[in-house]
Amino acid sequence: MSRLVVVSNRIADPRKTAAGGLAVALAEVLNGTGGLWFGWSGKIVDATEGDDVHFMQAGPVKLATVDLSQVDHDDFYLGYSNGVLWPVFHYRLDLADFDAGYIAGYRRVNQLFARKLMPLLQPDDVIWVHDYHLIPLAAELRALGCQQRIGFFLHIPLPPPLIVAAIPGHDWLIRALFAYDLVGFQSQADLAHFAGYVESEAHAQPLGDGRWRAFGRTVHAGAFPIGIDVEEFTQLTQAPEAMEMYERMKREYSRRRLLVGVDRLDYSKGLPQRMRAFREFLQKNPDLRSSATLIQIASPSREDVEAYSDLLHELESLCGSINGNFGELDWMPVRYIHRTVARARLPGLFRASQVALVTPLRDGMNLVAKEYLTAQDEEDPGVLVLSRFAGAAEQLREALLVNPYDTEGTAAAILLALQMPLEERRLRHQAMMKTIRQYDVHWWCDSFLNALQEAQAEEKGTSWL
Ligand code: ADP
Ligand code: G6P
Repeated sequence: MSRLVVVSNRIADPRKTAAGGLAVALAEVLNGTGGLWFGWSGKIVDATEGDDVHFMQAGPVKLATVDLSQVDHDDFYLGYSNGVLWPVFHYRLDLADFDAGYIAGYRRVNQLFARKLMPLLQPDDVIWVHDYHLIPLAAELRALGCQQRIGFFLHIPLPPPLIVAAIPGHDWLIRALFAYDLVGFQSQADLAHFAGYVESEAHAQPLGDGRWRAFGRTVHAGAFPIGIDVEEFTQLTQAPEAMEMYERMKREYSRRRLLVGVDRLDYSKGLPQRMRAFREFLQKNPDLRSSATLIQIASPSREDVEAYSDLLHELESLCGSINGNFGELDWMPVRYIHRTVARARLPGLFRASQVALVTPLRDGMNLVAKEYLTAQDEEDPGVLVLSRFAGAAEQLREALLVNPYDTEGTAAAILLALQMPLEERRLRHQAMMKTIRQYDVHWWCDSFLNALQEAQAEEKGTSWL
């Protein structure tokens, strides 16, 4: 059997926990399959310190990491990845910083990854590259003579062609995808945007069966919505740490109902919009005021990018003003926590909450939605209020779907969620759990890797860059 080599910028020790869908999902997958996980060590070093690969054995997984120099970190990670690709791919051209210097750093780090990974590869390896940081990695590997099968999965959305086309050098970026054998997206909408782009901008020929031909190469593309490890999360829900959290929340909020939000502090998550919707709900429903509390956990993320520090201030000021205006001596409407919560405690918090607010303005998938539902008591489950702009909305049709930009509509959905009768809650929960169980993280991994196995590699010798 082939060895699986996973490559991503962010890697995590699979025995520990991380905030961020990619690291959480890949840790689950690699724990089962074993293999090599290559990525950034998370360390920034002086350029003179060299670029050795560090190795660590973590259960069945071998971790191989490289450090980044300050300038590479600034241009590649903060600059091009999180200052250009992240905002544009989340439809936020207004937040993109198209500094011409960033792209060189992006190429430099992709070249560094290719150079360092190449000697670690074995002839039968299957290579699976993840996310927007590493789009040109296969092209760089091919340029060094890599013949192995390489797949790519984009964890974030792919916007419509004319939004992609706003990126200076977009043609180079999308051309680089043709160095992969298979390209995977989270949703049918993302896949349609890919087809639209390559056909209109790159004059690619659709060959049917999810194949496109351009630049003398054929690439396969498909939608592979990512899932969670339902069994693992169910066990986590029943473990002492989660149970204790559940009991504690139940005790503390015995006379009140809880709404919960758990996100990285990211502008794509629609946090200020969510707070405004909750404020609207409080304003419209004075009789329900002191019986509902929103716990919002927002873990710090990418704090050196300006848009993120702006968001932090906006959110803090919104939470402060809601509590100031609506709070009572014995009740605060919002409990805002700017920290990462231990993963073992999350299911307890989810289970104790009658409503989850998962209302991103755009999201590739959103695993929190699936985790919340999995943690529920199926006899008395809570209600998921879900943005129609999350990839998860393509699958979880029985959630209360909202437009997060519509403050009044979202406030109305919060009311509906709090008043939903038991029978309806059960039916919706059952239907969604069926989907979550069927399309779990193992389905995601197996279906992607099977499709990669079947993708016929052609013209591998082509020069890409
Ligand atoms: P993203 O990948 O954009 O962060 P997802 O919802 O897909 O969003 O995945 C986030 C993952 O990180 C989930 O597994 C979630 O449980 C975890 N997570 C997010 N925020 C926190 C937090 N504040 N504390 C602990 N875990 C978190
Ligand atoms: C999202 C992205 C991942 C990223 C994660 C955390 O899930 O799709 O690629 O790893 O956010 O962000 P960070 O910048 O801390 O890696």
